[in-house]
Amino acid sequence: MVTVGLLAIAWHQLYPSSLSYAWNGTSAPDAAAAATCQQLRGHLGSVITLPSDVSYTNLTQESWSRTAWKRPTCIALPATASDVQQVVSALVASNVPFAIRSGGHSPNPFDANIDTGVLIVTDRLSHVTYDAATGLASLGPGARWDAVYTALDLYNVTLVGGRVMDVGVGGLILGGGLSYLSDLYGSVCDSVVSFEVVLADGSVVEATAAEHPDLFWALKGGANNFGVVTAFKFTTYPIKNVWGGAQMFSLDQMPAVLEALNQYQTTPNKDPYANLIINLAPNLGVVLLTLVYLKPVERPAAYAPFYDLTPVSDQTRFMTLHELMAAFPPAGTARWTWYTNTFTPDSDLYAQLSDLLVSAPEIADIGALEAGSIVGAVQPISESLVRAGQASGGNALGLQPVNQTWFSLNLGWANVEDDAAANAAIESLHDKIDALASDAGAILEYDFMNDANAKQPVIASYGEDNVQRLRAIQQVYDPQHVFQRLVPGGQKIPV
Ligand SMILES: Cc1cc2nc3c(=O)[nH]c(=O)nc-3n(C[C@H](O)[C@H](O)[C@H](O)COP(=O)(O)OP(=O)(O)OC[C@H]3O[C@@H](n4cnc5c(N)ncnc54)[C@H](O)[C@@H]3O)c2cc1C
Ligand SMILES: *[C@@H]1O[C@H](CO)[C@@H](O)[C@H](O)[C@H]1NC(C)=O
Ligand SMILES: *[C@@H]1O[C@H](CO)[C@@H](O)[C@H](O)[C@H]1NC(C)=O
Ligand SMILES: *[C@@H]1O[C@H](CO)[C@@H](O)[C@H](O)[C@H]1NC(C)=O
Ligand SMILES: *[C@@H]1O[C@H](CO)[C@@H](O)[C@H](O)[C@H]1NC(C)=O
Repeated sequence: MVTVGLLAIAWHQLYPSSLSYAWNGTSAPDAAAAATCQQLRGHLGSVITLPSDVSYTNLTQESWSRTAWKRPTCIALPATASDVQQVVSALVASNVPFAIRSGGHSPNPFDANIDTGVLIVTDRLSHVTYDAATGLASLGPGARWDAVYTALDLYNVTLVGGRVMDVGVGGLILGGGLSYLSDLYGSVCDSVVSFEVVLADGSVVEATAAEHPDLFWALKGGANNFGVVTAFKFTTYPIKNVWGGAQMFSLDQMPAVLEALNQYQTTPNKDPYANLIINLAPNLGVVLLTLVYLKPVERPAAYAPFYDLTPVSDQTRFMTLHELMAAFPPAGTARWTWYTNTFTPDSDLYAQLSDLLVSAPEIADIGALEAGSIVGAVQPISESLVRAGQASGGNALGLQPVNQTWFSLNLGWANVEDDAAANAAIESLHDKIDALASDAGAILEYDFMNDANAKQPVIASYGEDNVQRLRAIQQVYDPQHVFQRLVPGGQKIPV
């Protein structure tokens, strides 16, 4: 696909100024953004949606959380990498800020949206193809995981991808990505064998272990700091039939469920085919354990610590992995925010966490909000995830090869009037959990980008060596720091 790079030249012939743009630290005001939108509309026609177009409103309301609904000056819907090249070149030439959205599942208001500036939406870059000869799948960033698994089901293969069907491919991969296959094969980004990416200078390159290996490494956790990714090529695996499903527990069983988790995480030689997630939902009065065993084996030994407990309801059975994941109910709540932290498994810490999640005053405050509900997602990560990532060439995440827990606090509520109260409550709870983990000596520096609040400096958490390396790679592929400064949203490389 490297030939697509030639198309960038077409744009430069139309707008010679873009050949020699110089970033001067000042982005264009609203009027300049509007002028650029008009100009782009003239050249790219229906790729550009203006606020006066009938489809504009729906496009502004696609993000999963309404906290991320904004009013961009215009919206670009590129259908090809060359469309993306032309849009990026024009925005860089005129210093107009922009945002990039794939599945729109980040609830952080400006991660994938913008008010004054252009929103690039990848909805039309949503191909999913599979090459049986190589065993590789090619995914457009705008595809959703349901479409990915549906296409791969025909071939009885799957990949290390998202666990919830409606989430977007683009953002999930670029943030690292957690899958039910991760203890076996690593983070989602570790299974990428090629990124096709439009760079700040309007060229398109394919980054692989052999071509642009530095960029290939950087994109595995580098978010939107290096370009607009227009396609991902992925390794696939012949996994289809599994055993698992959801078990529901009452709130008073939370300490017992978390103690079982601690045993599950610390039993020697944990089976990497065993994966799970626990959702602690104090406002709903439930604890939901989802077991995912990646072979058609009933009640495998890996989950033994949980078999001593008696769930209120039990939906475990044989099914396909796709069916199991599709059974996870979509969230109906309008507004969301979240925070993450990472710690090592610790029996006392889990007991304190159970206590906090039922007794903290913030839980009652949240329950008093219209549709207010908090969910703590407990995601056990084995050392094997980190080793698998290293074995496939490494990534920018800076993970330590130890067993760990990626804890994610998710808060949903209904009304914009409650935004301040909701944000205050989750920040306070997050601080308390952070303090408990620190006091237990269990905190790890890494923060999982895909569950992180915009206020959490995720890339700094990759460690100073990786940050230095990312800066050096940025200097090669984006020397003007276009994606750092013209794309204000999303996690940035610390300067
Ligand atoms: C219900 C739900 C379930 C989830 N389950 C999982 C899970 O199982 N595993 C997991 O890892 N995460 C999960 N997440 C978190 C999810 O990965 C993040 O919300 C992620 O941002 C979603 O990707 P997206 O493409 O939908 O997001 P978007 O909001 O569109 O994008 C997120 C960020 O990525 C950047 N970006 C997106 N596309 C591109 C591109 N093509 N080029 C450059 N930059 C781009 C955006 O600019 C933005 O900063 C879940 C989230 C939700 C809401
Ligand atoms: C920077 O460039 C913009 C757009 O080209 C221009 O409007 C602005 O005046 C420049 N600012 C400085 C400080 O040179
Ligand atoms: C906007 O979305 C609604 C709800 O999905 C749909 O009924 C309507 O036709 C859409 N409008 C346009 C102009 O696409
Ligand atoms: C997929 O598996 C089904 C059922 O086992 C089988 O009938 C079908 O031929 C397989 N398809 C491919 C492409 O291997
Ligand atoms: C991680 O846990 C497994 C058991 O699940 C254990 O065998 C392994 O030694 C642990 N690794 C580290 C680095 O503690």
